[in-house]
Amino acid sequence: MSEIDYKSHWEKVYEKRTFDKLGWYEKQSVPSLELIKQCNISKDAKILNVGAGATTIIDDLLKLGYNNLIANDISAPALEVLKSRLNEDDLNKVQFIIDDLTNPTILSKFNNIDVWHDRAVLHFFTVEKDQDTYFNLLKTVLKPGGFAILAEFNLEGALKCSGLDVYRYNAAMLQNKLGMNFKLLKTFDYIYTMPSGEERSYVYTLFQNNNNE
Ligand SMILES: C[S@@+](CC[C@H](N)C(=O)[O-])C[C@H]1O[C@@H](n2cnc3c(N)ncnc32)[C@H](O)[C@@H]1O
Repeated sequence: MSEIDYKSHWEKVYEKRTFDKLGWYEKQSVPSLELIKQCNISKDAKILNVGAGATTIIDDLLKLGYNNLIANDISAPALEVLKSRLNEDDLNKVQFIIDDLTNPTILSKFNNIDVWHDRAVLHFFTVEKDQDTYFNLLKTVLKPGGFAILAEFNLEGALKCSGLDVYRYNAAMLQNKLGMNFKLLKTFDYIYTMPSGEERSYVYTLFQNNNNE
């Protein structure tokens, strides 16, 4: 049993620091946006951003015309930061879902998701049971033909983030978790530079769900 209260950890993280000082802040999520572009989806496609925090990818997807976004996080303050940046029109295009990916009660009722986008979230789940819950949820909500974008610390990556242990991945490990019905369309390593100037190594992957229901 873990002694860490993860919900409270992530609430405090976003209460203590402005989001553009956090060690995962991106002025623009360039590699993720590139992969979403490659999915060739319509502007009303359902894009689920799990563990979205206060990410700027939501602002950028709205600017690009996407109008059916879902931003999930375990941390309500994180989603409040995100909400506070959006105007009324844009707020109507985003659903905000506070839910725990390792014990989902709201997200598990979703379906027909076109794109599952995760940057720097899955790698915090170090226990196999939590990883399995995460991947079961992904497979349940993603529609046949839908896409999964997973960007996590790679095998050369840091051992910790936000003071928490992480579980690092390569594309083969992610493929193994998703199963052979998911086709790896693209993968690359990416060096992200933190606001502090430190570097973090990520693996980016784009998979397509070839399950036929
Ligand atoms: C390193 S941050 C990345 C945030 C965002 N994806 C980005 O790229 O800016 C990890 C995020 O995952 C969220 N998170 C951690 N555990 C979670 C869980 N069990 N369920 C949902 N979100 C979680 C945290 O609150 C935090 O916002």
